[in-house]
Amino acid sequence: MIEIDIEYVKSVAQEAGDRAVLLLASMTPEFKADNSYVTNIDRETEIFVRGKLEERYPDFAFLGEEFGRHGDADAPLWAVDPIDGTTNMVFGIPIWCVSIGLIYQWEPIAGVICMPRTGELFWAVKGQGAFCNGIRLQTLDRDAPHLEDTLGFTSGAIKRLEVSHLVGRLRCLGSIAADIAYTARGTLCSLVGWNEGAYDMAAALCMAKEAGCVMEHLTGEPLNLSRILKEGKTHAPFVIAPPRMAHHLQSELRARAPLESQE
Ligand code: IPD
Ligand code: CA
Ligand code: CA
Repeated sequence: MIEIDIEYVKSVAQEAGDRAVLLLASMTPEFKADNSYVTNIDRETEIFVRGKLEERYPDFAFLGEEFGRHGDADAPLWAVDPIDGTTNMVFGIPIWCVSIGLIYQWEPIAGVICMPRTGELFWAVKGQGAFCNGIRLQTLDRDAPHLEDTLGFTSGAIKRLEVSHLVGRLRCLGSIAADIAYTARGTLCSLVGWNEGAYDMAAALCMAKEAGCVMEHLTGEPLNLSRILKEGKTHAPFVIAPPRMAHHLQSELRARAPLESQE
């Protein structure tokens, strides 16, 4: 088992989030080749986080959204999204975060998410639970959503899946890391995503697992980090929720989903 100083990782994420807020005044958005936003804050934050993690864990590998992968293939892997929710940050919506996950043997074993605009610091360590600002996260399961339950979706998932028949309040918050952390806390009762990477999700997946969520495609196949790392993104839609809620949504969505989501 890998020993991690989670207090150190928390301090790195918090400092990175605070620095990002200070940089907002000089934010310079531009479009990447795929027409998504990137800013000087995304790049500077990744350089900062990588430097801090390498200082303390020189033998670990590193994967970041902006500058890619470095280090030994067999080493524990930091999977970092320097800013998840860049579009929200550009438009002044406070739901964005610094996400630092640790993957070992294809499993997320630790994670910290700092949301500097809302003052939320989430963290989790495999076998030790998940927390937000000192409060332990534990999801509440149900057989099916109530009319007032909050069902989260990524933008890509809500555009491609038939969701109009679902019972509940649909929410699209704009940061997959925050979406999953909120699902671990029960702020969202469930989350449906489609096309997401390991660096977006590693930290939050550790939280979701520790809080009692399952993480599965519509077919029931568990999310496979090895495949996501190899292919870059999840290949099909997935549900993250407490088990009974997840199974309800999987069957509701599967019945009306496009063929590519049935793989
Ligand atoms: C994006 C956000 C968004 C999700 C996209 C991601 P970024 O990450 O998490 O919610 O739907 O697929 O790419 O670009 O802000 O790091
Ligand atoms: Ca992201
Ligand atoms: Ca990002």
